[in-house]
Amino acid sequence: MPPSLTATVLAAIAVPVGYLLARKFREGTDSRPPGPRRWPLIGSVLEMPRSYQWLKFAEWAKTYGSIVYLEAVGQPIVVLNSAKVAKDLLDQRSSLYSDRPNFTMANLVTHSSGYGEAFAILPYGDKWRQQRKIVAQEFGPGAVHRYHPLQEEESRKLIHGIVDDPNSFARQIQLRVGAIIVRATYGHYLTSEQDVFLTSPLTSMENFSKAGAPGAWLRSIQKLPEWTPWSSFLRTAKEWRALELNNAWDPYLWSKKNWESNTVLRPNLCATTLEALEGTPSKEQEERLVWAASTVMGGGLDPNVSSIMTFFLAMMLNPSVQTKARQEIDTVIGSDRLPTIQDRESLPYIRSIMTEVFRWKPAVPLGIPHALIQDDVYDGMYLPKGSLVIPNVWYMLRDPQIYHDPLEFDPDRYQNLDSEMDKVTDLLFGFGRRSCPGQDFAEGTFFAIVSTILATCEISPTVDAQGVPVIPDVTYTSGVNVFPSPFNCNVKCRSERALERLSGNDDVHM
Ligand code: HEM
Repeated sequence: MPPSLTATVLAAIAVPVGYLLARKFREGTDSRPPGPRRWPLIGSVLEMPRSYQWLKFAEWAKTYGSIVYLEAVGQPIVVLNSAKVAKDLLDQRSSLYSDRPNFTMANLVTHSSGYGEAFAILPYGDKWRQQRKIVAQEFGPGAVHRYHPLQEEESRKLIHGIVDDPNSFARQIQLRVGAIIVRATYGHYLTSEQDVFLTSPLTSMENFSKAGAPGAWLRSIQKLPEWTPWSSFLRTAKEWRALELNNAWDPYLWSKKNWESNTVLRPNLCATTLEALEGTPSKEQEERLVWAASTVMGGGLDPNVSSIMTFFLAMMLNPSVQTKARQEIDTVIGSDRLPTIQDRESLPYIRSIMTEVFRWKPAVPLGIPHALIQDDVYDGMYLPKGSLVIPNVWYMLRDPQIYHDPLEFDPDRYQNLDSEMDKVTDLLFGFGRRSCPGQDFAEGTFFAIVSTILATCEISPTVDAQGVPVIPDVTYTSGVNVFPSPFNCNVKCRSERALERLSGNDDVHM
């Protein structure tokens, strides 16, 4: 072999081998954050909890500190256990941390449809940006006031319904929050829990919660052939995918048809977007709108329902908080009218109760994972590109360094200061460019319900046959969104007058 060719062959072998050795060396010696033991190939899979992951992550915070590093079959995972670190990375460096991981199962359900995707799980990029813009414009601070009358009316109906039948309060919360979101998204007014506009997104969310939960998707990381006994997730994904397509397109097509015939209820997200387009929407524009609307249904329903249920639980367990809230409402608003969302500024104790509900039992304990777009270094620690980054919001909101007696439900901890309350909502509603675009809308619904019920009713435990109060255990489900385990409570109107005020019906949905 001529010397020049030998040199070329040697170089051709040496360069990749050298690269691999260097990479191996770097992987062995780089300063990734500490974390549980990583085994060859499988990494830390055996250590990953299958449910209530935030509890294990919090335990790891004590052993490894505020950044914990794991690997699952080659997938790097970074768990953030401190508000400061989460804000430094996900907020301050949001151009690097705004991607989403490949939720294998969730993506199998949406992506393989060949149509479009729900933007909450789309990668950082133009498709995500365009859908997000539609939602941010409709529900952002400048536009959301158009929905206040709807939110207030549905709150009155909710509480009236619960007073009539306290045992069905959980179902009624779901119906009324659903009515608000469906009405604002598609311009359709829900009249029953069986309405497909409500049942479809609920099923989708249940599936997404299973598909998207960290731990659940680990099982699906290896793409197994469909015939293998371990690949039932592929078959499940196929069924869910068909369902997803219908769930996304059917309500949109209904809304568009009724918008064209001028019979849809306005304003609503679809109508606003269609009106802003000039002429017939292109296929691409329609897909964008279909998935933006579908994402709102998926993102908006469960966390709102969960927070309201937690509010009932917290009030039942803390009668003195209810008394103090009523005093604030009676002093500021009086008894001639009900509070409105406009009154929020002048009711700081009510805002403190809402904030404490968010902190005490966050509805989305791990947020939605972000993904790191390129290698990064933080505090001397190397964080590899592609890392799935999980903010343990649950732990941040009960960090004993920040919150005294974190397990206690204590709205006074904020001393009525918005600056203190913002520290909670800044974490609860997520981070950086991915933070929740429905926050103002969600807070409006929550405030309307909380203030109306505190102005008109008392929430107390049920009593057993001996007249002894039945105090439920405070336990929660696991998943992306969490809910209190079923419980009962009594809801009694404070007076005939209060009941009359609840009956005032403006029928603003029409
Ligand atoms: C109490 C109620 C709510 C809570 C606690 C909540 C919380 C969250 C969280 C933690 C995220 C992930 C943020 C991140 O990735 O860092 C998120 C995303 C999102 N939320 Fe909410 N949310 C609520 C209500 C709503 C409502 C009412 C809507 C719609 C009107 C909505 C629409 C969305 C959407 C579309 C996303 C995806 C954003 C993106 O990926 O760019 N949410 N929410």
